[in-house]
Formats: sequence, C-alpha cells, structure tokens
Amino acid sequence: MSPQEVSSILQVEVEDTGPGIPAEALGRIFEPFYSTKPAGEGTGLGLAICMGILESYGGKISVQSESGKGTRFTILLPIYEQPLKP
Ligand SMILES: Nc1ncnc2c1ncn2[C@@H]1O[C@H](COP(=O)(O)OP(=O)(O)OP(=O)(O)O)[C@@H](O)[C@H]1O
Ligand SMILES: [Mg+2]
Repeated sequence: MSPQEVSSILQVEVEDTGPGIPAEALGRIFEPFYSTKPAGEGTGLGLAICMGILESYGGKISVQSESGKGTRFTILLPIYEQPLKP
C-alpha cells in the first residue's frame, strides 16, 4: 500500500449565526490581507493561514454564507493510512 493512501476523509463544519458574508465578498475572504474589519483591527490573514495549513496537509476549506443569516465553513482533511513524511 502506498504511504500516501487516503483511508478516509474527516469533515468538520463550523457555523455561526452572525452577519453572514455578502455574495460579492465570498470570492475574496481567503485572500491574504482581505479584511472588512476596521483599520488596525484585523490583519485579513486568519482565513488565508487556515487555508494554507489545510492545503499543506492535502485538505480543503470552503464557505457557505448568506448575508444576515450566518456562515458555515466546511473543512475536509484526508486521513492517511500511514503518517505523512516531513
Ligand atoms: N464567520 C464570519 N462571518 C462573517 N464574515 C466573516 C466570517 N469569517 C470571515 N469573514 C469575513 O472574511 C474576512 C477575512 O477573514 P480573515 O479571518 O481572513 O481576516 P480578519 O478576521 O478580517 O482578520 P484577522 O483574522 O486578522 O482577525 C473578514 O474580514 C470578514 O469580512
Ligand atoms: Mg479572522
């Protein structure tokens, strides 16, 4: 069996009932330095770093959101048969 073989996929969903994300912003939220927080309050790096870490392990993150109704992030992470080599 190849050491990289995936035996299953872990799915984690995190959701809130916050303000939601308008459709025109959804395509930008994983961009480094994209932030709608007031100047000096957000780096806009949170989601870009999450995506970078997840992709480095072969995972993915996606978002579903509707303005005014909340936001759900879905994370997919492969479970490998054997530990990943550094
Ligand atoms: N749960 C959420 N609900 C509504 N908008 C969100 C949510 N998560 C992220 N966003 C939007 O995506 C943008 C980018 O998020 P990201 O976490 O990368 O940066 P940030 O939160 O602005 O800054 P930092 O992570 O440094 O505090 C946010 O500024 C906000 O507009
Ligand atoms: Mg953040």
